[in-house]
Amino acid sequence: MINFGIGRPSADLLPLDLLRQASEEFFRVAEPHDITYGRKEGDARFTESLAAFLEKNYGQQIRADSLFLSGGASQALDYICTQFSRPGDSIIVEEPCYFLAFQIFKDHGLNIITVPLDRDGMDIDALEALLSRVKPALVYTIPIYQNPSGCSMSAVRRKRLIALSQEHDFLIVADEVYQLLSYNGTPPAAFGTMLTGDTVLSVGSFSKILAPGLRLGWIQTSNKRVRQLTEAGLVNSGGNMNQFTSMIVKQALDSGLAQKHLVELRTIYSERVNTMDATLREQLSDHVSWTKPEGGYFFWLKLIKHVDMKALQERASALQVGFHPGALFSNNDGMQGYIRLSFAYYKQESIRQGIAQLKTAFE
Ligand SMILES: Cc1ncc(COP(=O)(O)O)c(C=O)c1O
Repeated sequence: MINFGIGRPSADLLPLDLLRQASEEFFRVAEPHDITYGRKEGDARFTESLAAFLEKNYGQQIRADSLFLSGGASQALDYICTQFSRPGDSIIVEEPCYFLAFQIFKDHGLNIITVPLDRDGMDIDALEALLSRVKPALVYTIPIYQNPSGCSMSAVRRKRLIALSQEHDFLIVADEVYQLLSYNGTPPAAFGTMLTGDTVLSVGSFSKILAPGLRLGWIQTSNKRVRQLTEAGLVNSGGNMNQFTSMIVKQALDSGLAQKHLVELRTIYSERVNTMDATLREQLSDHVSWTKPEGGYFFWLKLIKHVDMKALQERASALQVGFHPGALFSNNDGMQGYIRLSFAYYKQESIRQGIAQLKTAFE
């Protein structure tokens, strides 16, 4: 089965050797207090190494005290809801949106309201109109190589969103897990580099650039918000979310191994994007249209003619190929005429084979 629904790194891209080397170095220099409860916002040695890594990749100065260690992006989203919202509050999200975030927001009793999105990211005019009727606690955006649409928010819209957050007193939760996976030039500056005022929380993760099983990520925000993030019972009781792993990843950052791996990932993923794009053009251009993604993991295909999605999925599944239907990414039964394919989980040969099978399912 080739399942293009899977949005994860393939096994050949999970860096066991890198982590073995980083772990050996950690144990060579470790002292007992390295494995006690860690400082609530993350061990200072880790946040400094992370700041240096982000500074190199963002091309802008990053302060270590703007970083708060999280147990990955999902945990960060959940924790932000705990700290900055109450059940019954509203959260505005993009339509379409990362489907697994819906449940996190629902777990917190949040009322999810959607705004549309186009090639330049969240429709800020629509958001502004909505803000005359709704007072959200949070606005959630995936501003770069969006999951599922692949599009990125323009620099102009980023500035307008920040201005609106200050005027209407809501927090921007910018899920920037794909910021470092760009395959075609420089992406727009991350929200993590736009921390003037106290309304921006940028979420990052090692899941997409090292390994999901590390459960390590970060929230980048103003000093005031970092302080608020350290005021929860959870970190008062348990210290930071992942002290031990962070000390190993610190070695991977300092040695340059994490940077080298990131460069390799960009090369391999950009080959996979090119293969998927070329194969779609050969095989499926009568059935779907799309814009080639410039980063991230996903192709967002628009169906040219109406298709019975359930029947298509059944035919595809019988032919041993899978995908995620667009409706999964809507909170309102929308996005029926779309399909999401991830190119991250398969090598080029399997991508070619899977798309050929998908063509058969369409015909
Ligand atoms: C937009 C987005 N946010 C968060 C996550 C989950 O990240 P993590 O593994 O760091 O919890 C994903 C993973 O697919 C994602 O695409």
